[in-house]
Amino acid sequence: MKTTNIISGILTGTLAISLFACSDVRRNPGRIYMPDMTYSRAYETYASTEDLTKEGVHYDHMPVAGTIARGEELPFPLPKDAFGDTTNYHAARDIKDPLPACDSAQLDEARRLFAINCAICHGAALDGNGPLYKDGNGPFAAHPAQLVGGPQYMTMPEGQMFYSIEYGKNMMGSYASQLNRKQRWMIVQYIKFKQAQSAGGSKSTPGAAAKSDSTATAKK
Ligand code: HEC
Repeated sequence: MKTTNIISGILTGTLAISLFACSDVRRNPGRIYMPDMTYSRAYETYASTEDLTKEGVHYDHMPVAGTIARGEELPFPLPKDAFGDTTNYHAARDIKDPLPACDSAQLDEARRLFAINCAICHGAALDGNGPLYKDGNGPFAAHPAQLVGGPQYMTMPEGQMFYSIEYGKNMMGSYASQLNRKQRWMIVQYIKFKQAQSAGGSKSTPGAAAKSDSTATAKK
């Protein structure tokens, strides 16, 4: 009996001590010599930076000046127009293609991307008559733009084409999630190259033609 009392006495005592210890957790780290080591510089969601500032760590959540966000190497400055508005669609006419002229291998890659993503509507010959439209007998009711041959598209500035590929146009959806910005600009160059070609440019060296053909450069 006595032994049991002693054991339970010891247990109660330990419990009391540990409870007491728990309630006295020191949250203050005391004197801080190196705030960088005491406080994490990493931004934690919903964390206040007030304490950091008090301790001399100036953290303003902003990336270092000149930082380029991932996927923003080729920034496109115009946001999508609100429904019914066409301000940015028209402003896009002044946006220049940021890529250097594609060489023949890149144009070939652009042709491949066009064949996968666009030719089903616009046609492999860019004549606006792909298998989904088929002269109006296909399942897709809207007439896809006749990118080669259609007068308003032959003169459409590259930036405006890019805008429509980025955000979509009426029955055509946006291709921003399927193709990255570089691929989209490459496709625009491919369209411009095919337009120049149909207007009488060289057919053998696509890269050189896109660079030197007067019709291709007249777009700039
Ligand atoms: C599902 C069919 C469809 C697909 C796929 C499609 N388009 Fe279109 N596209 C259209 C239609 C329809 C229009 C005409 C939109 C209008 O003016 O009402 C159009 C218009 C355009 C225009 C002219 C935009 C303007 O501002 O008038 C361009 C440039 C274009 N498409 C490029 C592309 C490219 C590049 C791709 C592939 C990445 C593509 N399209 C894929 C249906 C399609």
